[in-house]
Amino acid sequence: MNFRGFRFVLCISLLFLISTVPLKAADTAHLSIDASKTGPTINRDIFGQFAENLGHGLYGGIWVGPNSSIPNTRGIRNDVVQALRALKVPDVRWPGGCFADEYHWRNGVGPAAQRPATLNSAWGNVVDTNAFGADEFMDFIHQIGSEAYISVNVGSGTPHEAADWMEYMTAAAPTTLARERAANGHPAPYKVGFMGIGNESWSCGGDMTADYYLSRLKIYSRFVHNDNPSQQGANHMLEIAVGPGVPETDWTETIMKAWQHHDWSWNIDGLSLHWYTVASGWPPSMPSMNFGVEDYFKTLKSTLFMDDFLRQQETVMDRYDPQKKVALVVDEWGAWLAPLPGTNKAFLVQQNSLRDAILASLNLNIFARHADRVRMANIAQMINVLQAMILTDKEKMILTPTYYIYKMYVPFQDASFVPVDFDPGTVHRDGITLPRVDALCARDASGKLWLEITNLDPEKPLEIDADVTGMSIKSAKGETLTAPAVDSVNTFTAPNNVVPKPVSTTVKDGRLALTVEPKSVTVLSLEQ
Ligand code: AHR
Repeated sequence: MNFRGFRFVLCISLLFLISTVPLKAADTAHLSIDASKTGPTINRDIFGQFAENLGHGLYGGIWVGPNSSIPNTRGIRNDVVQALRALKVPDVRWPGGCFADEYHWRNGVGPAAQRPATLNSAWGNVVDTNAFGADEFMDFIHQIGSEAYISVNVGSGTPHEAADWMEYMTAAAPTTLARERAANGHPAPYKVGFMGIGNESWSCGGDMTADYYLSRLKIYSRFVHNDNPSQQGANHMLEIAVGPGVPETDWTETIMKAWQHHDWSWNIDGLSLHWYTVASGWPPSMPSMNFGVEDYFKTLKSTLFMDDFLRQQETVMDRYDPQKKVALVVDEWGAWLAPLPGTNKAFLVQQNSLRDAILASLNLNIFARHADRVRMANIAQMINVLQAMILTDKEKMILTPTYYIYKMYVPFQDASFVPVDFDPGTVHRDGITLPRVDALCARDASGKLWLEITNLDPEKPLEIDADVTGMSIKSAKGETLTAPAVDSVNTFTAPNNVVPKPVSTTVKDGRLALTVEPKSVTVLSLEQ
């Protein structure tokens, strides 16, 4: 045999060996579900998004302008709108973030040519044309079928400025500001579902003490009104106060203690909490591409801290608000990774991998388990920034693995939490232990049961044996999201590396059986 012949035989033998060596054997996880036991509603607002005026989050990502060759409706990209509609995005937080406390809304209304060019000093000192202002944002909100969550400027603005902004947006009566809005093409008042009073006021929002912020909060809550006649009484705009960004309780104590004795003149409906997964510590140095299983373990371990953080804050909130009137609003969360090489560091550009999709599912499951207090959350951020749903490059657009998680979780919006009993098991690497499996179950308004299963094990598949009582299930169908590697990503040249695929299941005598792939997220509907 010559050398080429020898190589051929070697390859064939190796292929034979590989095909006969069994894949790592699957263990079994037993889930027990009683569909008759429903808990709190998983508020659809926990699937909210955050779109800050930062890098290409708005400009390029949403706004291309009416004269662009990229297909658009009144300047807003059609491809992005179409993709977002499929997520049923419940609310979008805008204009920041740190940017909110520098934003002066008047710069962004009126004829585009007359708007001033300003500097975005929060994010890279780039020139802001102000072409995307309040009316364009509301157009975007309507196009994607969502609701507005406006963060007003507490840091460098005044209550008067914020009150004028709300009047411009929401007044139906023919005030000067309402007439100005009508002259700008919007006679009917807008619905503003949520108002954030400041952002990270303990840091970029003005480095305030909790007591000083509390005084500002009361004044904004008292004097900044939503005047929309359809948003009075029970339908009122929800007001969200700045809450903690580190796992300490002093800030929450100050706000909630005051809230307990608040009078008619001020109120809040939510307290915000910000927590990013930064497994490397600050500044974020974990790469978003080309990483290994060690980073996967570190990042997922770090993200699971969200549960402890929520618990810690809830203990304080329960003390002052046992009836859980004030929601905990996690309005910034997600993986904050190293900026992609070659990008403007201030633009917070990162790729989005299968690992990040799993991270998203773990956090959404945590929020759902805290559904009685966590009634809103906004992943950071929607497009081209941090843990995005969508990445764009001029006319090109790709959907990230995190996008697909949000799509798969749509049935959980406003569904009732159903407890799942299971032993999560463990999986280890380099001294780090993670749960092997996570699961979430809920019943939607039509009575259908939905089950989500995350297999965190990067190598081994997992047999699922689920015992469902309280409802007679006959079949199950759904999709799974996985990919060859934990760092698999979608790119502009290979946009479908990480996309959901159908999964096969069997149901017999009320028991559901399936195998979930390593490093995967699976969502099933259980049919009666
Ligand atoms: O999402 C990026 C930034 O992170 C936000 O502007 C700020 O609120 C937070 O620190």
